[in-house]
Amino acid sequence: MSRIAYVNGRYVRHAEAAVHIEDRGYQFADGVYEVCEVWRGQIVDERRHGDRLERSLRELSIRMPMTRAALSQVMREVLRRNRVRSGFVYLQVTRGVARRDHFFPSPDTPPALVVTARNVAPETGDRGAETGVGVITVPENRWDRVDIKTVGLLPNVLAKQKAKEAGAKEAWFVDADGFVTEGGSTNAWIVTKDNTLVTRPAEHGILKGITRQVVLDMIARNGLSFDERPFTVKEAKEAKEAFITAASTLVMPVVRIDDTAIGNGYPGELSRELRQQFHDVSEMDPV
Ligand code: PDD
Repeated sequence: MSRIAYVNGRYVRHAEAAVHIEDRGYQFADGVYEVCEVWRGQIVDERRHGDRLERSLRELSIRMPMTRAALSQVMREVLRRNRVRSGFVYLQVTRGVARRDHFFPSPDTPPALVVTARNVAPETGDRGAETGVGVITVPENRWDRVDIKTVGLLPNVLAKQKAKEAGAKEAWFVDADGFVTEGGSTNAWIVTKDNTLVTRPAEHGILKGITRQVVLDMIARNGLSFDERPFTVKEAKEAKEAFITAASTLVMPVVRIDDTAIGNGYPGELSRELRQQFHDVSEMDPV
């Protein structure tokens, strides 16, 4: 069975799927995206991903390519055509195709929409979570609108590649004051020695992760101690536990920051528990 992608109104073979060379996403990174987890035949937190997509587009004055309901249908169709039960659905909206010019194209230029999906067995992430991951720290070098989920990810790509070359899975950006902002494609968390969960406020300097929001819901539900504030690299290295969150990783324990083992060097209890509860608390809609 060949993979199928949705590209601007058509379902096409993934291997042959293409956008125009003057798509503004290609030329200017002038577009936004979302990644939703698909778990056992259900889309996870579709409503919140849809809300964030609309917000990102609004911030950049790009139109929604179609209604939320129609978009939801396209996502489902792509999932069905690819027989995805568990994995991910990716969608990307750009300002469309127009002759290269920094100014916005004429308002009647339709935004471009691409949707892809792929199967990933849930056990793949679960196996990784059993050992946890390492992170490295890198200076924050991104623009100050990282709250918008744009496809302009070059600093993230370079930071994550550096992490990979150092034998780690993620890079944590550190701001000029020594505080961790977030990972290249994840939000960052620690658990202090007195079992307080700490993560940076989402108003500024980070993407407001949907997975982060589900963890906040779990914290409220379980009556856990929580402090929404920035934390330094030093504090993180001395923490009892650390973890990262994203649709692509869920709650993933961090066992090493640079060369420092976190806690006893194994995934922490709270991180493991939050991972386990995740799909009981996130919103689910059948494909
Ligand atoms: N990344 N921060 C950044 C910079 C991200 O790119 C992401 C998600 C997150 C977590 O957001 P959420 O919990 O909504 O997935 C935080 C996606 C998965 C990606 O780029 O593949």
